[in-house]
Amino acid sequence: MKNSKSICAVALFMLLFGLPPAAHAQHQPVDAEGHQWWQHAVVYEIYPRSFADSDNNGFGDLKGIDQHLDYLKQLGIDAIWITPCFPSPQVDFGYDVSDYDAIDPLYGTLSDFDKLVADGKQRHIKVILDFVVNHTSDKHQWFIDSQSSKTSQHRDWYIWRDGKGGDGKSPEGIAQPPNNWLSTFGTPAWTFDAKTNQYYYHYFYPEQPDLNWRNPAVENAMLDVTRFWYKRGVAGFRLDAVDTLYEDPALTDNPPAPGTDKFGRANQIEKYNKKLPEVHDAMRALRKTADEYNSVLIGETWTSNVSQLKDYYGANHDELQMPMDLMMTEFKGLHAQQYRDHIAAVNAAGQWPVYVITNHDIIRSYTRYGDGAHNDDIAKMMAALYLTLRGSAIMYYGEELGMENNDPKSREDVQDPIGKIGWPVEKGRDGERTPMQWTDGPNAGFSKAKPWLPVPASAQTHNVETEAKDPDSMLNFYRKLLAMRHNEPTLLEGDYFPLNNDDPNVLAYLRRYKGEATLVVLNMSATPQKVGFDLAPAGFATPKLTESLNNAHAKTAAGADGLSMQPFGMFIAKVTQ
Ligand code: GLC
Repeated sequence: MKNSKSICAVALFMLLFGLPPAAHAQHQPVDAEGHQWWQHAVVYEIYPRSFADSDNNGFGDLKGIDQHLDYLKQLGIDAIWITPCFPSPQVDFGYDVSDYDAIDPLYGTLSDFDKLVADGKQRHIKVILDFVVNHTSDKHQWFIDSQSSKTSQHRDWYIWRDGKGGDGKSPEGIAQPPNNWLSTFGTPAWTFDAKTNQYYYHYFYPEQPDLNWRNPAVENAMLDVTRFWYKRGVAGFRLDAVDTLYEDPALTDNPPAPGTDKFGRANQIEKYNKKLPEVHDAMRALRKTADEYNSVLIGETWTSNVSQLKDYYGANHDELQMPMDLMMTEFKGLHAQQYRDHIAAVNAAGQWPVYVITNHDIIRSYTRYGDGAHNDDIAKMMAALYLTLRGSAIMYYGEELGMENNDPKSREDVQDPIGKIGWPVEKGRDGERTPMQWTDGPNAGFSKAKPWLPVPASAQTHNVETEAKDPDSMLNFYRKLLAMRHNEPTLLEGDYFPLNNDDPNVLAYLRRYKGEATLVVLNMSATPQKVGFDLAPAGFATPKLTESLNNAHAKTAAGADGLSMQPFGMFIAKVTQ
């Protein structure tokens, strides 16, 4: 009642005084627990090149996204994160930005973008953009100027250094890079530029020179970029590659590590060019600006433990609201104990978790977890996991269909440059970026033209049109699960109470809120399992279970002596006294 009164008051205010001055009012706390909208949100990641092609040139675009907002609404999405759609030479498919304040013509225009934001707003779908903070394209005006001379205005906006030997030449006359750092994309990290006889640094491709965040002018310019988009109504940013914003100014060589990487190079510990403490200063500055616009920051935060992840929230909650927990994407195999331990650690850390099981850089979850025999059941079971845990969730387009990876079959077919550099060990990321599967028709209904990447044969069965008709499809499972997540107070607000802590096969937990709970039971094994629960310690001495959802194919039966879980079965029930 209190909420609806305040909604009425806002509506009355708007009628009397018009819209509030900035986009601020749209991001206020939404519930009685004081949660912000993003704490209950499911964010849907869209790779715009591959989502929907409105002009039939083989590449997706903003209008294509706009035309499918109703689909996303029906699915139960609260926000879309669009991977970079700014002007770009597209060497890294948009992650090489040549102008931060415009839209790449491949994807449309600024007015298409404004329309998308407005149409999204009507449907309560917010738009989050991807901000590439670590580097620009080498075709960005800043870099072009920086490269032009040692005294240019933007020279110090990037990392330029003499090579070993002082002038970029060794005594033998051969250019030697300033230190031993490596680019994560399989190339050297330093590129020599004969024009000024110096090297510039790039953690990614040579076409992605690193910005020098130690220069206050860079920070100011980047904060201005965020303001430009906040004023256009974006609800926040996903910050790309934050770990590599700063480098050791002394350029100390990285120490060696055992083994070789997928490009065959000797491993090293990235001690001096990754996760430097100054990264947190940049996060705080970005957050301060985000707060001026009541916006949210999601981080591409690769961490190896929960304590590292915790740092990204900021000691005073003044960094990222939503650093992504990407750790589950690196688990090998499905082991209940591994998930149980991780979730316990995340909850003990006391922050608002952000679970992710896949994205545009990682093999699709369907392929990663699939065992070939139970793929759909496993995908449903994993969806039930990341969408019923306490926290926010980020899903990748096509997860709701069971889209699988479609890796290139030969080096000639590869589009992603790392796949060309690292073939065949590293096949690149094309496989997880294939066109959204809308129908069982040509090109999966994505485009009338040949799409930039081929669709897999499984698009015949795993597509929106076909799945919409099947009550047991992945798509309908996701719709039910997301509807439950949005409407069920125990899932929105409840605590996390683990059950049967010693069970090696079945992960089970309660989400408890105000004397009720949701029970989630996930059989992570390929064998049938029998489970029973003592819910008394959780506050339910005489529990009454009402089934809400299971993965129909692997149907789970509830009997007097417990649950019979089929291989990779999942079961969700409402628990009342
Ligand atoms: C991030 C992006 C990835 C991109 C890289 C360089 O890791 O997710 O797709 O290639 O940054 O911008």
